[in-house]
Amino acid sequence: MRIAVVPGSFDPVTLGHLDVIGRTARLFDRVHVLVTHNPGKQALLEVDERVRLIRESLAEAGVDGVEVDSLSSGLLVDYCRKVGAEALVKGLRSSTDAAYETPMAMVNRDLAGVETLFLVAQPATSHVSSSLIRQVAALGGDIAPYVPRAVAAALQPEGPVRG
Ligand code: PNS
Repeated sequence: MRIAVVPGSFDPVTLGHLDVIGRTARLFDRVHVLVTHNPGKQALLEVDERVRLIRESLAEAGVDGVEVDSLSSGLLVDYCRKVGAEALVKGLRSSTDAAYETPMAMVNRDLAGVETLFLVAQPATSHVSSSLIRQVAALGGDIAPYVPRAVAAALQPEGPVRG
């Protein structure tokens, strides 16, 4: 049984995340999406709300067999050990992502022998980030092209101010 963990802040989940999760589900027998709290980032959504939106988005996209969980404390690799995962999977959009992700991948392998696999983002979503979505939503712009329907409904229940 090959098990992978797809970790992230997912604040909120985007179409880019959904693509990476779906592609991971095709490569592994079981996938755990793990929502983490990143103290270095100003959060928009509560962790439980992020979990709910990921579950709804996966159901809407017809992606089966994916567990969605959250990590409030402790190391990512301890969660991997607990669920028997041998790999972390992350999306890579740019060389900036690679520079940010590479040291974490090395530390996670040093700590517990957990490998990190990178899936190259689709061109259609390679410019999409949760931080940009948060900013566009806060300023009333239309986020619908970048996020699952459940996320657009949660963040902009009355639609964009500027469409
Ligand atoms: O989506 P993000 O904010 O870039 O994801 C951040 C993530 C999940 C990679 C980071 O918050 C994380 O790894 N958290 C778990 C704590 C941990 O294990 N830290 C050591 C990793 S080197």
